[in-house]
Amino acid sequence: MNQVAMMKEIQRLKKQKKGLILSHLYQEDEIQELADFTGDSLELSQKAATAEAEVLIFCGVRFMAETAKILSPQKTVLIPVEEAGCPLADMIEAQDVMVMKEKHPKAAVVCYVNSSAEVKAISDYCCTSSNAAKIVRNIPEEEIIFVPDKNLGSFVAKQVPEKRIILWEGFCPTHNRVTGEDVDNIKKIYPQALLLVHPECRKDVYERADFVGSTSAILKYAKESNAWTMIIGTEKGSLYRLKKENPEKEFVLLSSSMICPDMKKISLDDVYRVLSTMENKVEIDDNIRKRASLALNKMLQYS
Ligand code: 13P
Repeated sequence: MNQVAMMKEIQRLKKQKKGLILSHLYQEDEIQELADFTGDSLELSQKAATAEAEVLIFCGVRFMAETAKILSPQKTVLIPVEEAGCPLADMIEAQDVMVMKEKHPKAAVVCYVNSSAEVKAISDYCCTSSNAAKIVRNIPEEEIIFVPDKNLGSFVAKQVPEKRIILWEGFCPTHNRVTGEDVDNIKKIYPQALLLVHPECRKDVYERADFVGSTSAILKYAKESNAWTMIIGTEKGSLYRLKKENPEKEFVLLSSSMICPDMKKISLDDVYRVLSTMENKVEIDDNIRKRASLALNKMLQYS
């Protein structure tokens, strides 16, 4: 089947099964083109919680599909490739959080959404990159265990100096790979360009940036900016929407290494296959799901 025929067939199956295709902004261009809704982690979880579809086909990494299932247990959630994981989410386990809680009994646990359902289940609050500082600022606890991303955590600590933040040493390999030196080198080539970066980047990168925000916040900033050239410090997939929405502007990736291999695992073939077979259903133990939903729902209330 050629690509056009496959796209048509996917649309037919989707309609028949009352499905909705969700895609993260880091997915391949054709997946973003195919999707009914594309967004960052927060927007996708809000959409998953409110969508009227019976089947969600989640084109992203596993923790995102799990989040959709936790928020919408009555829906069938399909992940086109089960091996699409997140190395950052794998850097901490529920047992590690338990040990931190024992050491800091008064602290609240705020977990980044890039975490397993088990970690969410023993956390007090969840957050994404777009609401992390807001949540940490607004919750009553003074002491906060922030897991698993040390870069996002240190960025939040800078935004909310009145709180004491205890960090875990996790990081996103794709964002953490880029250094301040990479910024200095690209700035020599594009001295007039603005630098827009994701808070999963290292401190020496976000401290050099003109804007730091989630993927959708970067999209919004780029659209509203008068600048003609912008250096983008997040995953390569974000360039698709940036270029589509701003054809007159120039976007340069901060480093050609900013490609998340897990986000690139899903192809049109995979979407077609899961829609035809209804394989790869996301299932979560009910007890874990109920407890994880408390932390996620608190996040949605605070957002
Ligand atoms: P946002 O979607 O919040 O920008 O975060 C990106 C990310 O961590 C994807 O894994």
